[in-house]
Amino acid sequence: MESELEKILALSREMAKQAGEVLLHFRREGANVRSKSDGDGPSYDLVSDADIASERLLGQLISDAYPGHEILGEEEYRGDSSAEHLWVIDPLDGTNNYAHSVNHFAVSIGYLRAGQPTAGVVYNPASGDCYHAAVGSGAFRNDQPIRVDPANSLDQVLIGCGFYYDRGEIMRRTLGVIEELFGKNIHGIRRWGTASLDLCAVADGQFGGFFEYQLSPWDVAAGRLIVTEAGGLITNASGGPIPMEQSSVVAGSPEIHSILQEMVQRHQRSES
Ligand code: IPD
Ligand code: CA
Ligand code: CA
Repeated sequence: MESELEKILALSREMAKQAGEVLLHFRREGANVRSKSDGDGPSYDLVSDADIASERLLGQLISDAYPGHEILGEEEYRGDSSAEHLWVIDPLDGTNNYAHSVNHFAVSIGYLRAGQPTAGVVYNPASGDCYHAAVGSGAFRNDQPIRVDPANSLDQVLIGCGFYYDRGEIMRRTLGVIEELFGKNIHGIRRWGTASLDLCAVADGQFGGFFEYQLSPWDVAAGRLIVTEAGGLITNASGGPIPMEQSSVVAGSPEIHSILQEMVQRHQRSES
């Protein structure tokens, strides 16, 4: 018989596919992309009709299946993040890529039980890649098991990063880390613009590690479990657990995580 967790995972995968169809539909028909701010915030923090429609669909499907569960979404759902059963959703991660016809964006769905990441799905409808994990059951890409890169030194890996919507202090710290990484002969830096997929890239060994100084719960709720179930580590810049609020994030194989976390923390301190 299917366990409750298997049902939640199956529902998450089905919902991600449906929300992905919504994103592709709006991209064909016009998604009305616009800035989130009314003029006093950055013009490059974007939202579109697709983000909203995708989040409403996900919210409806979750509420239909589990009326008592709470939902926290990037756009509209403001559920209680301390609830026993919590869904944390990014209806369109990588909005900038989406807006500029870059086929690297995703629907991200994380389910937390008593605050613990328990199931996660990240789906890129443009490529068809679907990553999933359930606690204790491993991580998968298109149903094939995945593991983090076994490389244990920086001169053997690619590192992914993100900049958040900040062109001041956070960007300076990020560039400081990147400069130091290049000095360690890493194979390259990638900034792909979709944090949930960046974490999946760590989980399936494309990136040796990933860091970003500011991410939101919906960016990481699914990907963090996919990383740990693939044998990786994910923490904030201080090496502590990622909270249910905006936070720095460092992920990688245990060896690369440890090197990268020290570096990301040091550059954070030197700015403050
Ligand atoms: C963003 C993406 C990006 C990351 C930003 C996020 P959004 O999410 O994940 O890669 O660098 O910090 O806010 O706005 O496209 O959902
Ligand atoms: Ca996001
Ligand atoms: Ca988003």
